[in-house]
Amino acid sequence: MHDGVNLCTNCVILAHQRFDKGQRVNLFLAVFNALYPLARAGLFRLDAEVAHHASMAALRLAEKSGLLGLISPSDELVSPVEVMGLKFPNRIGLAAGLDKEGNTIDALGRLGFGCIEIGTITPRPQAGNPKPRLFRLIDHEAIINRMGFNNPGIDAGVRNVCSAKSFGGVVGFNIGKNKDTPNENAADDYLICLRKAYPVADYVAVNLSSPNTPGLRDLQGAEASARLLEVLKKEQARLAAEHGKQVPLLFKVAPDLDEAHVRDLSQVFLSGGLDGLIATNTTLDRDRVAGHPRAAEAGGLSGRPVFEKSTATLQQFASHLGSRIPIIGVGGISSLEDAREKIRAGASLVQIYTSFIYQGPRLVKELAREL
Ligand SMILES: Cc1cc2nc3c(=O)[nH]c(=O)nc-3n(C[C@H](O)[C@H](O)[C@H](O)COP(=O)(O)O)c2cc1C
Repeated sequence: MHDGVNLCTNCVILAHQRFDKGQRVNLFLAVFNALYPLARAGLFRLDAEVAHHASMAALRLAEKSGLLGLISPSDELVSPVEVMGLKFPNRIGLAAGLDKEGNTIDALGRLGFGCIEIGTITPRPQAGNPKPRLFRLIDHEAIINRMGFNNPGIDAGVRNVCSAKSFGGVVGFNIGKNKDTPNENAADDYLICLRKAYPVADYVAVNLSSPNTPGLRDLQGAEASARLLEVLKKEQARLAAEHGKQVPLLFKVAPDLDEAHVRDLSQVFLSGGLDGLIATNTTLDRDRVAGHPRAAEAGGLSGRPVFEKSTATLQQFASHLGSRIPIIGVGGISSLEDAREKIRAGASLVQIYTSFIYQGPRLVKELAREL
């Protein structure tokens, strides 16, 4: 481990001596992008969750050694946009679930993300569902996961975010309820997380749409979400006065909602004063991957096969919400054209997860630069 750090440090010193900053950024991005297919081939030989932990650890090591510092976001990746009163350096964010702990923010920021959403984080730490719980459907550029909110708990999440140093973008906290908290008491869990995250979060996203916590999606019912929104908005107003800052409150919804449900929820969000919407989470629908040997695995499907459904849901919400509630579009974006389609459908910002696993940092840079 230490030898690795020393080697990286020597490379960093060498590169600093021989190239100016612009050349270094381009050189290292070119090397990084060229190596990604190789790294991916190696990682894809491993179990999906082992590969996830290995690549997050490698990113943290590259950051710690100073290697990633050489590709600190160049000016071309910055074209600021203001949404919900927050300044985003660009329109591309990392969706929740990759950095569940919030301990890789600086490294991920170096790759060009203007926003990183950490979590889902619950009040108490929890282990999540039994393994295996993460599956690649490579020919569909898709993933099925039933992680079940494995996370270190809100206190550790807040500590981790506080120790991020270099990231200058927006940090969102995605919050959830513990598995053993009944839905009647779900608001208490969200309140605990909201209060603890508030001083350090740029925004807080309430996850109502993970398919992997039994009963969670019931909170998307019009009545249940209206009650929850009322409680959380009251607390947000109190916290805003206490901390002297307004932290926007967002809800994250599923793509598996019919049109009447979208209409009712939109009414709830408009009358309850929701600040922003994230559309969408993963889908339970398997139509697009029918016949794949992994299609029957329980959990949420993400990546290319969810794009159409997720974008249709986004469009329906946008038609009701207009410009009154901004929408972050997420679900199946795997190219610049997909991201543009989300924006045409009504999104102000976009996020990716699965295509980042399949395509690596090249796509992040392209989206940051071109959107
Ligand atoms: C392995 C995995 C874990 C995820 N965990 C979370 C989570 O904890 N909270 C959440 O709100 N969404 C989670 N998501 C959903 C993503 O944030 C995103 O909404 C979804 O994957 C659709 O985007 P994509 O097609 O770009 O991946 C997860 C997705 C994946 C693939």
